[in-house]
Amino acid sequence: MGKIILTGDRPTGKLHIGHYVGSLKRRVELQNSGEFDEIFIMIADAQALTDNADNPEKVRQNIIEVALDYLSCGLDPKKCTLFIQSQIPQLTELSFYYMNLVTVSRLQRNPTVKSEIAMRNFETSIPVGFFTYPISQAADITAFKATTVPVGEDQEPMIEQTREIVRKFNSIYGDALVEPDILLPDNKACLRLPGTDGKAKMSKSLGNCIYLSDTEEEVKKKVMSMYTDPNHIQVSDPGQVEGNTVFTYLDAFCKEGDFEKYLPDYKNLDELKDHYKRGGLGDVKVKRFLNSILQAELEPIRQRRKEYEANIPYVYQVLKEGSQKAEAVAAQTLQGVKEAMKINYFEDLDFIEEQARKYKGQE
Ligand code: TRP
Repeated sequence: MGKIILTGDRPTGKLHIGHYVGSLKRRVELQNSGEFDEIFIMIADAQALTDNADNPEKVRQNIIEVALDYLSCGLDPKKCTLFIQSQIPQLTELSFYYMNLVTVSRLQRNPTVKSEIAMRNFETSIPVGFFTYPISQAADITAFKATTVPVGEDQEPMIEQTREIVRKFNSIYGDALVEPDILLPDNKACLRLPGTDGKAKMSKSLGNCIYLSDTEEEVKKKVMSMYTDPNHIQVSDPGQVEGNTVFTYLDAFCKEGDFEKYLPDYKNLDELKDHYKRGGLGDVKVKRFLNSILQAELEPIRQRRKEYEANIPYVYQVLKEGSQKAEAVAAQTLQGVKEAMKINYFEDLDFIEEQARKYKGQE
């Protein structure tokens, strides 16, 4: 059995650097590692509609944004299959059968869904589609027989639920599905990058994101006005690095060679942190350092984005071809699922014959 990746994002906005360190960068590394036989990257528009039913235009507009973000980060259509969820009808069919294997109370226990319900003030009126999206996510993953699902920490409950569905399906109907493993980011700071204002999460509505498509000036402005330690007022004051967004970002982005290139007075991040903690190191200096690192990381992404932006029909063509390929794979899995469930009546000629004999005997 091959090693297969499936992952994806809801197209509800442009992707930001939290997505980048949390998953996109890793995806590109996995793509280039040559370790995987197939890599499927899905734009989860159908899932986005589960809480945006009244705003399909938002989802529609963001499909191209997310696709541009993917391509500009270095995902290569020759090495991975980029596709749009809603174009694969087999996913809804699989979801319908999986629904029989999950209880309402099990869905209610899903901590990510729980917090999303609270965030959206859905408590008294949860759309059924939203409530059941973990099941549809199990369909996304199993349709491609994914062995590996690289995602952020918040997706852990979805993968666990998928594994439960797979085990239940296989134990009832026979082994037709593959149990996937989650692949979390290995750098702790990358698990969930805070917003530039220090709030726990980057979110469009909070206006605290640095987007992959931001210009050099926008990035600089956001970095220079980032939340640090509110008690670090004078340069000479001792400062705190825990909960200090600039240092959290450095934990996520700083790599070997960055000090030599941009801040040769220090050997490494520990030394910089020690100085900050002792006092005598100003925020502006640390922010400039972070800005240099971010710009270097984002510049090639911006360049590639410009190239793809000049060729939007090509990007849609990539998604179309990817969706056709994805559909063929999902169709095969669905066939196997229907066979296992014995709802493949017209293909099961033995069964038809057997039925014929049975009724003949009754005459
Ligand atoms: N839930 C994911 C998100 O919010 C998107 C997604 C949908 C997904 N289906 C998936 C991720 C299957 C991994 C695997 O970003």
